[in-house]
Amino acid sequence: MTEKVLDAAGIVKSFGGTVALDHVSITLARGEIHALVGENGSGKSTLVKVLSGVFPPDAGLLRSGGRQMTFADPSDAQRAGIRAVYQEDDLIASLSLSRNLFLGRAPRNRLGLIQHSRMKERAAEILPAFGVHSDVRRPLGALDDGARKLVAVARAIIAGAQLVIMDEPTASMGPTDIESLFAAIDAYRAEGGSVLLVSHRLPELEELSDRITVLREGRVAHTGPADRIDRRTLISVMLGRRPTLAVPAPAGPPETPTAPPYLRAIGLTRRHALSDVSIELREGEVVGLGGLLGAGRTETAKAIAGALPLDSGEVTVAGAPLRKRSITGAIRAGVGLLPENRTAEGIVPTLSVRDNIALAALPRLSTFGVLSNARIDQVVDTFMRRLQIKAHSPHQKAGELSGGNQQKVLLARWLATHPKVLLLDEPTRGVDIGAKAELADLLDELAVNGLAILLISSDLEELVNSCDRVVVLRDGAVITELIGRGITEEGIISAMVSAG
Ligand SMILES: Nc1ncnc2c1ncn2[C@@H]1O[C@H](COP(=O)(O)OP(=O)(O)OP(=O)(O)O)[C@@H](O)[C@H]1O
Ligand SMILES: [Mg+2]
Repeated sequence: MTEKVLDAAGIVKSFGGTVALDHVSITLARGEIHALVGENGSGKSTLVKVLSGVFPPDAGLLRSGGRQMTFADPSDAQRAGIRAVYQEDDLIASLSLSRNLFLGRAPRNRLGLIQHSRMKERAAEILPAFGVHSDVRRPLGALDDGARKLVAVARAIIAGAQLVIMDEPTASMGPTDIESLFAAIDAYRAEGGSVLLVSHRLPELEELSDRITVLREGRVAHTGPADRIDRRTLISVMLGRRPTLAVPAPAGPPETPTAPPYLRAIGLTRRHALSDVSIELREGEVVGLGGLLGAGRTETAKAIAGALPLDSGEVTVAGAPLRKRSITGAIRAGVGLLPENRTAEGIVPTLSVRDNIALAALPRLSTFGVLSNARIDQVVDTFMRRLQIKAHSPHQKAGELSGGNQQKVLLARWLATHPKVLLLDEPTRGVDIGAKAELADLLDELAVNGLAILLISSDLEELVNSCDRVVVLRDGAVITELIGRGITEEGIISAMVSAG
């Protein structure tokens, strides 16, 4: 029998009335990569936190190396060789890469002083193996989300853990970061390390995992070898029903677009970020924005939404220039932006789901400045149902929702403003496969009803399936535009990486 690094049996964990984990059992063998999948709110992050000592379980047993364990806090779990990389960042943006890599366990000399130069040397040796090639003295905050996650993974692995639990590490990563992560995981497994990996990206998991466990509504719906379950079955086990996978729509209207563009961005330019980017959006059109990390996709969306100052360029909506370059000005003109980084720029965790949704629409929902609570309730209720937001009531704090459900709340916030133009920056990051298909349908429906949509996504399949046109950016400039049947994954990739 293979040795078990961790054996959890009958784990129960409730929050108030919500049973997040209902008698969940899972084992981790030495040298095993074990995938954990399930819909948004199915209990994955809660299990991660119970296994790594953040939450004590209400009931159930944890055993490691045959011995029963109780974790009062994460440091107990760390002493037992278990470390986690959480869904939300827990590193310190203002500290250097090397300090973060050794956070809480910096090398010290005999006098107890931190050995900074030794730490920097070690970090410079370690980080490239994890695909992080920046100067180790730079602040962590200077890196993009994907690279930050790689530092967090490196930190957990080099701490000498025998089990590293990773909660959606790939959610904010591009293809290169994912490759680096998988190479690092492979190397760790070769040395006998075990990984419990949470992800919504099934193709990746099939490639990497030895076993897959599926959670559904807080229970184990399936567990077994990864090569004995095909993707369709896996999805139906996850959803508890037969999948209605989005059939790729016959891409794009090949008819020549006759309507004048509703939104025109002309010559958007900002030093070191954008050079002369022009984009047009027509009513009823879903336009994709492709490109690698750093190509200028987020900057373009922000510039259009008035959230990024420009050196030059102009945005017109329905023929009128957006004069006041501000977010409120853009909202007033009917332009909504769903930002990329939901924790930093979006969700207010201490406010209720209701207030988070109503936040941007408040001016619309009031009559002569008087807010109608009934009207707000009605709007909130509609969007909670439509996007199937999993919360026990509209009054639950948004910070208590699962990561994917927080993303849906943000989307509801912008839909509630009844925008004419919707700019979506990685809207399905961390969103489960069922909700992804629903979102694709919703975008279709919104477009049919006359909305103009700009969709930024690193998921090429999503761009191909949802867009009428795809504009590809590289180094802050428009490289090419693919239309209708001309939109293919290969086409987008070759434009993304094409030489100047
Ligand atoms: N601190 C908390 N307080 C109250 N309820 C919570 C808390 N944390 C999680 N929950 C609830 O427990 C359930 C499981 O949430 P969890 O975060 O584990 O889901 P998840 O599978 O990780 O989802 P996602 O894919 O969206 O990240 C959800 O109903 C969530 O609202
Ligand atoms: Mg989660």
